[in-house]
Amino acid sequence: MSNKLLYIETFGCQMNVNDSERIVSLLADIGYESTTNPAVADMLLLNTCSVRGGAEEKVYNRLANLRIYKRDGKKQIIAVGGCVAQQEGEELLRRLPYVDLVVGTHNLHLLQEMVQAAELGERRSETAFIDKEQRLDLFPSIKGESRLSRFVTVMQGCDNFCSYCIVPYVRGREISRRSADILHEVRQLADDGVREVILLGQNVNSYGLKGESDVSFAKLIRQVAQIDNIERIRFTTSHPKDMSDELIDCFADVSKLSGQIHLPAQSGSDYVLGQMGRGYTRHSYLDKIAKLRSVRPEIAITGDIIVGFPGESDADFEETLSLMEAVCYIDLFSFVYSPRPGTKAASLSDDVSREAKKNRLDRLMALQRQHTGEICSRLVGSVMPVLVEGEGKLPGQVSGKADNGRIVNFAGDVSLIGSFVDVKIVKAYPNSFLGER
Ligand code: 5AD
Ligand code: SF4
Repeated sequence: MSNKLLYIETFGCQMNVNDSERIVSLLADIGYESTTNPAVADMLLLNTCSVRGGAEEKVYNRLANLRIYKRDGKKQIIAVGGCVAQQEGEELLRRLPYVDLVVGTHNLHLLQEMVQAAELGERRSETAFIDKEQRLDLFPSIKGESRLSRFVTVMQGCDNFCSYCIVPYVRGREISRRSADILHEVRQLADDGVREVILLGQNVNSYGLKGESDVSFAKLIRQVAQIDNIERIRFTTSHPKDMSDELIDCFADVSKLSGQIHLPAQSGSDYVLGQMGRGYTRHSYLDKIAKLRSVRPEIAITGDIIVGFPGESDADFEETLSLMEAVCYIDLFSFVYSPRPGTKAASLSDDVSREAKKNRLDRLMALQRQHTGEICSRLVGSVMPVLVEGEGKLPGQVSGKADNGRIVNFAGDVSLIGSFVDVKIVKAYPNSFLGER
């Protein structure tokens, strides 16, 4: 029997990228192979994100576009997964008669039977949240090709309810996996040739805080670091309020821990941070950064900032710019605030004008370009270990990631793929480095 073809589009965060890998692996078990061509696919799946405004319309528009492939009487399954699926549920089936299947964020374990039913013409939506205890056994492990760097989910969900954020509503309550299961998975990955693991969670450093786990996140990192052949450990995304001293200490003495951390501040103004319900102040955020730098002076810090939150004044925005000056991020993801349905902030008046939002975003991005440029040019001349992951941009080059998370291209043979190589940085580009051995 020839294989059926699956075309999948992924939006949003690394959680979704990881879920898409799980989907590909689950559907491989029932005979689906991946294709990048929607026209020939037997099944089209959108793995969606609803974290920012306009997400729902985008999904409805994209589905309308995908529908053209279903014409000519071709039997093609159209499926929606991820956060918009969770949010809209049955509504997607009601509004779009050509959608066959809607699978929520807690329901991937039902996907195989849903697809098999859809092949027989059934239309179904599954978006019930699963309670914590049951969910522990529902982290499907990813089979598939071994690669050098892999995500390992250690926790899911979020209990923080930051006032602007839809995540707790679409991903559900926080749950941490048992450390023994995580370590077992990492050992297997190491045996399959994986050299770097990225510990993944919506709020990864609150791992274990809810009493479901036997160890703290810092201890988990130390245990992962004991595993032979795992050479580098990263984790994402961290919440500043859960950045404990115990975790910061890992950067002092766990040499496998990567020298990069994503620590979203969201704003530099205490008033706005309070309105956002972030649970830390500008001062305590900068204090954590200082502690991180005291144990790892060269640590590369990335972050997220929202501009134009309700009530953000010019003075509040200036505080954000001054926070950026104090931290000096190597990279920053910046977003214009948009109200999300059901969140606390959605009931506040969205009172920062569009012009002011745009102007603030432009100023912030210009400052960030300057900081990225300064940090990266300072690194020219230094030598860093690079995990070589594939061929480079130009013929004769290979490419990999430095300890600070930046891509480095350098002249080298493909036989280097899979190893750590010391590379001297010779030139800094906006998004990568050129190096030489
Ligand atoms: N508006 C704008 N940006 C948002 N983010 C989350 N919710 C919103 C919103 N309502 C941003 C935050 C978060 C990132 C993933 O998306 O900066 O860290
Ligand atoms: Fe959203 Fe805040 Fe949870 Fe991050 S910590 S997912 S911003 S609610």
